[in-house]
Amino acid sequence: MADAEPLIAAIGAVASNGMLGLDGWLPWDIPEELAYFEATVAGAALVIGRLTYESMDVVPADSFIVSRRGDLQLRPGCRRVASVEEGLRAALATGKPVFVIGGASIYAAAWPYCRRFYLTRIDMPFAGDTLFPAEIPLDSWDLVSEVTQRYRERNSGQDVTCHFLQYEQRQPRPLPAPGGDPAEA
Ligand SMILES: NC(=O)c1ccc[n+]([C@@H]2O[C@H](COP(=O)([O-])OP(=O)(O)OC[C@H]3O[C@@H](n4cnc5c(N)ncnc54)[C@H](OP(=O)(O)O)[C@@H]3O)[C@@H](O)[C@H]2O)c1
Repeated sequence: MADAEPLIAAIGAVASNGMLGLDGWLPWDIPEELAYFEATVAGAALVIGRLTYESMDVVPADSFIVSRRGDLQLRPGCRRVASVEEGLRAALATGKPVFVIGGASIYAAAWPYCRRFYLTRIDMPFAGDTLFPAEIPLDSWDLVSEVTQRYRERNSGQDVTCHFLQYEQRQPRPLPAPGGDPAEA
């Protein structure tokens, strides 16, 4: 039944113009949105792109950092993985819930394996340098939860509407066995 099925989820936030990153961090400053992210992933094993990892002040234990750099030095509790698939297998092996937390390149590689995508849509355009991957077909996933809130965006001083959405993909792709990752083919 569903209990036995490993649940891989992704979580992220995107502006109305598709931006999700600026200068290695978020394009906006909305403390409540950050708090929602932190509460949702608390206690989970995380799969994180190397650039996003480097932007984080605190990285919890059981974080798997995706990088091609074999000599990457990481903080305690973090392990380098050479592909998203290796990261997902390692994260699942912890027995914890698994969250893919970005950035864009990691969402783009991980979405086929995700059962759920927690996406906050922010009803305001922001200047940025990193776009949410357009190829993720969330429009064809089931929208299973939607909560709307208004918060103050601190850089602009404006109030902004945030839609906290949860999408579900009915048939995520099974993870390939070790040695069968696309990057290894
Ligand atoms: N809005 C949000 O919810 C959200 C969430 C997360 C991040 N962000 C933002 O997104 C931006 C970063 O995103 P990004 O896409 O530029 O960077 P990223 O995904 O965080 O990290 C990219 C790095 O991950 C590694 N990587 C990516 N694909 C790989 C693969 N297939 N195999 C092995 N390694 C791989 C490479 O590391 P090496 O170079 O070490 O090989 C690559 O340089 C930042 O601005 C961040 O703040 C926003």
